[in-house]
Amino acid sequence: MKKELRKAIIAGNWKMNKTPVKTKTLIAELIPLVKEVASQNSGSACEVVICVPFTSLATAVEAVYGSSIKVGAQNVHFEASGAFTGEISAPMLKEIGVEYVIIGHSERRQYFGETDETVNKRTKAALTAGLIPIVCVGELLWEREADITEEVVSRQIKLAFAGISSSDAAKVVIAYEPVWAIGTGKTATAEQAQDACKLIRDRLTALYGKSVADSITVQYGGSMNAVNAAELVAKEDVDGGLIGGASLKAEDFTEIIKAASDGQ
Ligand code: PGA
Repeated sequence: MKKELRKAIIAGNWKMNKTPVKTKTLIAELIPLVKEVASQNSGSACEVVICVPFTSLATAVEAVYGSSIKVGAQNVHFEASGAFTGEISAPMLKEIGVEYVIIGHSERRQYFGETDETVNKRTKAALTAGLIPIVCVGELLWEREADITEEVVSRQIKLAFAGISSSDAAKVVIAYEPVWAIGTGKTATAEQAQDACKLIRDRLTALYGKSVADSITVQYGGSMNAVNAAELVAKEDVDGGLIGGASLKAEDFTEIIKAASDGQ
């Protein structure tokens, strides 16, 4: 088992949900629940991150203060500053206390022109500013049906990490999210998730060697919920999850955190 070599991370992707007021309410519900999970696991739960909308970041950073919960953004621009109307840079996120940032989510690839090249640029910008990137990869349904999942995911990984040193690569978190499983209620089977996460680790081994690859957290994402989480995170190469819908309900999200903490 290689699980002890890396940390399991449960990250909530709130997407375009929750105003600052509602953010505060959900975090107030979560804090005692996460604390309880930690107390049942000799004082520590898995790493817990909530990725909230830009307008809720400052509120969330303040609300999690004193707890073990970390705050992440859902996107970041690749330049540090300049004439990019409407964009937010990595140093801006860092300065307000944000620690993680989701990069290359399939919704951004699908609706906002995200490409493997911009994923690579954003990942570098996040690392330069000291943010932890959660880089999303995953195949579309027709790509899985055409039996090219391996090619698609390998290409996404190779391009996301182009020009990134092994010491920086070791700081990156990867989320394997088959696009057909996101928000659809269709979860990958635990075997499918394991196969893809293992494939990602093999690609990372080819790029950076075994010890770096073994230390990188590879999450599964796509309709993970309170019921199916335990089976998914128990798999050897699945190090937690990136959770959309179920992260908006404190009890459901806590059940997933519990599954990942028990599985450590
Ligand atoms: P879902 O979303 O859990 O609602 O399927 C996952 C994600 O988009 O990260």
